[in-house]
Amino acid sequence: MRLDKALANTGIGTRSAVRSLIASGGVTVNGVTAKDPGMHVTDNDKIAVNGNETGIKENLYFLLDKPDSVLTAMEDPRLPCVGDYIPAELSGKKLAPVGRLDYHTTGLLIITNDGELSHRLQSPKYHIAKKYLVTFKGPGWSDGEISQVAEGITLTDMDTPVKTAPAELSVISPDKAEITLYEGKTHEVRRIFAHFGKEVTALRRVTLAGLEIDASCENTGSIRELTDGEISLLKSSVSL
Ligand code: URA
Repeated sequence: MRLDKALANTGIGTRSAVRSLIASGGVTVNGVTAKDPGMHVTDNDKIAVNGNETGIKENLYFLLDKPDSVLTAMEDPRLPCVGDYIPAELSGKKLAPVGRLDYHTTGLLIITNDGELSHRLQSPKYHIAKKYLVTFKGPGWSDGEISQVAEGITLTDMDTPVKTAPAELSVISPDKAEITLYEGKTHEVRRIFAHFGKEVTALRRVTLAGLEIDASCENTGSIRELTDGEISLLKSSVSL
């Protein structure tokens, strides 16, 4: 983003006021006095006005532990949605969830305005691992069924049959299993389980691209910004 635009976005003044400020030598970027209002700055640059650091960030990255009965949408006229967990002052920042968790799925959801990162994390091309903890009702998993999931199965429950990508399933107890997917078809976990006569009664995403949250649901509704290390981890997982 341009330096003058980044500064004007913070509300310190109009673009022309910001340009005058730069011309008067009041702005430094990484400790060096800025001369060009059009210079390119990123989240990693430290921008100061009259010696005070502004904390300008072009992109924002949040990790929400999504609660049950919350829609994966930024706004909804009727239902609670993940946008309700974002501070109101960030409403103009074009934040959006990375992919979708079902209304009744809990767990790890990234919310960002970094469109390229979001796009890549959702693309099967980058083979991003997403692990889910599943509570289910029905017959236990046989070794043969687990092998079929590992190879990919054809789901025929919707209009068009679809083949799932290879996934890893491991049984934890008679009613609990973990499944790791590398793609994100609609309701994929619930449909894989249903294909084998099992009904998912609770679903929680616990990892995504190396990020992890607690397996318990004790902190659903908690939200925090990702650390620089976590942002780098996400970016490097999709070659950014
Ligand atoms: N698979 C599902 O069935 N639901 C989700 O929310 C995520 C993956």
